[in-house]
Amino acid sequence: MVRKPTKDDRFSFGLWTIGWTGADPFGEATRPSLDPWEYAEGLAELGAWGITFHDNDVFPFDASDAERERIYTKLKNAADNAGLVIEMVTTNTFSHPVFKEGGLTANDRAVRRFGLRKLLRNVDLAAEMGATTFVMWGGREGAEYDSSKDLYAAMERYKEGLDTVAAYIKEKGYDLRIALEPKPNEPRGDIFLPTIGHALGLIAELEHGDIVGLNPETGHEQMAGLNYTHGLAQALHANKLFHIDLNGQSGIKYDQDKCFGHGDLASAFFTVDLLVNGFAATPDAHRYEGPIHFDYKPSRPEGMEGIWESAKANMEMYLMLAEKAKAFRADPTTQELMKNAGIFELAEPTMAEGESFDELFNEKEVADFDPEAAGLRETNMVALYQQAMRYLIG
Ligand code: GCO
Ligand code: MN
Ligand code: MN
Repeated sequence: MVRKPTKDDRFSFGLWTIGWTGADPFGEATRPSLDPWEYAEGLAELGAWGITFHDNDVFPFDASDAERERIYTKLKNAADNAGLVIEMVTTNTFSHPVFKEGGLTANDRAVRRFGLRKLLRNVDLAAEMGATTFVMWGGREGAEYDSSKDLYAAMERYKEGLDTVAAYIKEKGYDLRIALEPKPNEPRGDIFLPTIGHALGLIAELEHGDIVGLNPETGHEQMAGLNYTHGLAQALHANKLFHIDLNGQSGIKYDQDKCFGHGDLASAFFTVDLLVNGFAATPDAHRYEGPIHFDYKPSRPEGMEGIWESAKANMEMYLMLAEKAKAFRADPTTQELMKNAGIFELAEPTMAEGESFDELFNEKEVADFDPEAAGLRETNMVALYQQAMRYLIG
C-alpha cells in the first residue's frame, strides 16, 4: 500500500481539471458543476497542497469588478481555511469568441490590446493570491490556414506581448515568473510555440526573458511524438523549468488529459526518476524545485465519484513511481549497470580545460584509437533499462 499524500509532496491541481463537466465538441456536460471553493475543499481533504486556476474558472468573463472581487475573495478565504496554497494563476485567452483568432497574435490590434489588459489584470490577481507562477498557454495563438497570418509579424507580436507582461511584473515588483506552456495543436490547427524547444527559442529573444520560463505538459509533448523527459531535461539545462503539468497521453492523437501514468507508463517512470533523483552524474544539481502540478481531466464517462477517484489516482501514481524510482537508483546493482553503460563518462568534458587543437590531434591518441574496436564495445543499455522495468513492474 502506498502512503497518503501530504502537504510536503506539494501536489497541486488546476480547478479546471476536476471542475471539467465533460462538455466536449460532440456532447454536453455529463456532470454538474460545483463552486470553485467546493473543489478546493475536496482537494485539500485528499492531501493536495495547492490549487491553480484561470480567471474564468472562478468568475465569469463579463463579471463586474465587484462580482469578480467577491468571488475571488471567497475562494482565497476557502483556500486559506483549507491550508491550500494558490501557487499559480493563469488567464483564459481562449474561450470567448473575441479570442477566436488569437490573443497576443490576433491580426486585430484592438483584440491584442484587450488581451493584454486581461492578462495584466490577472497578473495583479496572481500577486494578490500569493501565486509565484503565471502560466501562459497560448491556445488560440496559431492558425488553421497557413495563409492566415504574416508569420514573422506573429512572432514579433508574441514577443512583444510576453515582454509587456514581464515588464509589468517587474514594474510592480511582484515575486512572479511567467511559464509558457507549449502545445502543438488543439484548439488551433497549429499552435505557435508547439514544443518546449520552440518556446526556449523565443524566450532567448526576449528582453525580459530572465523571468520567463516553461510549464511543459506531458501530453502536449507526446501529442507531437516527442519525449517529455528529454524536454524537461533540456528545460532544466536552460534553467527554465519553472512549473510542470503532469498527465497521461497514449500516443499521437488529441489531447487526452488522462491521469498521470495512465498513458505511457514507462515514460512516466523516467519522468519521475528525473524529478525525484535528478540527473545521473549530478544528482544534486539542476533539480526541478516547483510544485507537482496535475493538468488532467476526469474522463467523460466518470460521475462525481470518479472526479475524486481520478484526482487521487494522479497523486497515488506519482507516489508509487517515486518510491520505485528511488529504489531503482539506490540499488548498487543499478549504479553498477549505469557504470557499465558508460552513463557517468558522458559528464566528462570531451576537451580538457584549455586543451589546444594540437593536443586533440596528438600522435599517440590518433595512433592508439581503434574505431573498429570502439564500434564493437558493448553498451549494456538494455540491461540497465530492464533493471528499471524490474523496479517498475517486478
Ligand atoms: C490545454 C492546456 C491548458 C493549460 C491551462 C493553463 O491543453 O487545454 O493544457 O489546460 O494548461 O490553460 O494555462
Ligand atoms: Mn493540455
Ligand atoms: Mn496544461
